[in-house]
Amino acid sequence: MKSIAQLLQEATHSLTHSDSAKLDAELLMSHVLQKPRTYLYAWPEKTLNSDQKQAFLELIDHRKAGQPIAYLLGQKEFWSLPLKLSPAVLIPRADTEILVENVLKCIQTEQAMIADLGTGSGAIALALASERPHWHIIATDYSKPALEVARQNALHLKIHNIEFQHGNWCEALPNRLFDAIVSNPPYIAENDPHLKQGDVCFEPRSALVAQNNGLSDIETIAKQAHIYLKPEGYLLFEHGYNQADAVKEILLEHGYLDIQNSKDLNGTVRITYARNKAACSKKNSGA
Ligand SMILES: C[S@@+](CC[C@H](N)C(=O)[O-])C[C@H]1O[C@@H](n2cnc3c(N)ncnc32)[C@H](O)[C@@H]1O
Repeated sequence: MKSIAQLLQEATHSLTHSDSAKLDAELLMSHVLQKPRTYLYAWPEKTLNSDQKQAFLELIDHRKAGQPIAYLLGQKEFWSLPLKLSPAVLIPRADTEILVENVLKCIQTEQAMIADLGTGSGAIALALASERPHWHIIATDYSKPALEVARQNALHLKIHNIEFQHGNWCEALPNRLFDAIVSNPPYIAENDPHLKQGDVCFEPRSALVAQNNGLSDIETIAKQAHIYLKPEGYLLFEHGYNQADAVKEILLEHGYLDIQNSKDLNGTVRITYARNKAACSKKNSGA
């Protein structure tokens, strides 16, 4: 029978392609034992039963094949919320928390109608809903399996101020006017080499790739969002590291005002947002 310490050491050595081999092995061991990582340091000499050992070795094999840790654990933290994941959803990124911060900065009212388009695991909608329990949030996705993951996360976290809608971008929204529409849409170009690297290879292509150099979904949303936004309502996007100018162009072309941006944790502009102009809201003008 091998001890926790022995198995961890062997697994760490075998994960040659991971740049976080020791951490990966520890996270997977904690997951199998259903114990915190501190337990592994407190009880290194404890042995695993045969089921636990087999489960651990299988997970290590999947990790060796490149599968993302978040999918193997079935969980990832976002905005301090433990989100359940499946391979149907994008793994939420820390950078996306900046999009959440920007929505909270733009909308300062206690009551608000907010839409999160392409919600995936529900990360953005759940973060906003947890911060602002009096906001009403509509979270949409074109992928039914993704929407189901988001719905389960809301149930699990006991967050009740989100309504989930299936459909294509703004077409999924009810006939209401929104204070803000936020989206982290697919924005990677079809031929981008990053699609063949790391965790991204295992994530759903429909969550990552957009036509027209990665800009087609941003363009569709910008075009549609006018009539769903209140006058001067906010439209906020996360986008690629080299898309800030193109997104600004799209927003200008569609008549948005007061275009601003925000940088990610590496200092790159990855968030662009703007306001609807009063005269552009057809719903508002009765059209
Ligand atoms: C980059 S992922 C973002 C997921 C999540 N919001 C996050 O930040 O982690 C983009 C999401 O948009 C969804 N999506 C793709 N095309 C869509 C469409 N036409 N209408 C609505 N959602 C769509 C994908 O299924 C995916 O969940």
